[in-house]
Amino acid sequence: MIAFLLPNWIGGHTAYHSHGVQAAHIEGLWWLMFWVCSVVFVAVMVALGAAITRPPRESGPPGAIPPERRERMSRVVAGAVGVTVLVLFVLLFASVSTGRAIESLRASKAITVKLTGHQWWWEVEYKDPVPEHIVQTANEIHIPAGQPVRVELASADVIHSFWVPSLHGKRDLIPGHSSEIWIQADRPGVYRGSCAEFCGHQHAHMGLLVIADPPAQYAAWYAGQLQTPPPPADPLLQHGRQVVEAGPCAICHNIQGTQASGKLGPDLTHLASRRTLAAATLPNTRGNLGGWIVDPQTIKPGNQMPANSLTSEDLQAVLAYLESLK
Ligand code: CUA
Repeated sequence: MIAFLLPNWIGGHTAYHSHGVQAAHIEGLWWLMFWVCSVVFVAVMVALGAAITRPPRESGPPGAIPPERRERMSRVVAGAVGVTVLVLFVLLFASVSTGRAIESLRASKAITVKLTGHQWWWEVEYKDPVPEHIVQTANEIHIPAGQPVRVELASADVIHSFWVPSLHGKRDLIPGHSSEIWIQADRPGVYRGSCAEFCGHQHAHMGLLVIADPPAQYAAWYAGQLQTPPPPADPLLQHGRQVVEAGPCAICHNIQGTQASGKLGPDLTHLASRRTLAAATLPNTRGNLGGWIVDPQTIKPGNQMPANSLTSEDLQAVLAYLESLK
């Protein structure tokens, strides 16, 4: 309704542009509540204005109300109470039926994504009974458009909250307690999400993207993520890989097929295929990646990644290598 007034960049991160069946239910409930409450507000203001501007009665002692007027006032108050109760019941019914509708999205053979919140990034694992078919990534969830997807939620440290407003409401990620949420994007697109529970210094920089692909494109993306990157043939990339494996990168990050097998930070096996860095804080460009590696504390103070002082030769080689991890 007023969605067209919102700037374009907000379009991917707002509950006013629902792109999933559940978000559509929530948006409908919001507009119902908005209009009902607007009408109630205007009615109360009109009644208040009428009471204030009404001329005072001229005769009779204060407090003495003629019986017929008393009866009329009683009827008005009883009517207002009745309307109020009715309106509250309508909103209650709408709220409960919206809750039931958004919980009814299920599918027997759905993709399951395990999402683990960290200060301040999202660990993403596509579950599969066959270990070789498990995909690990970070801060970006690809899903097939038009299909329900089950998202298992967990936290590695404090309480976070998963919220992609164009697709669904919020659901908390609680340490030691797993929960789940089902999402569905009706159309292909990129939907921005964020952490919706204050979780420390960089809470505001804990974003993620949900990328809904046409099913064939999703299958191609998944097949690509399953590939182990081949050992580089180019000497520059070989040098970059050596620096990554021998340096501190390998302690925290995993790259399939290399000696880097850390689990503390995001998996980098297909880093170059992702759109953003540092949990949707920066576009994934060479310049941003270089800045992030050398001085992550200026970009996102307090995050777990330490600064890395590399020679410019090593840094260029590392950047070339990481950018080859498509
Ligand atoms: Cu994680 Cu706020």
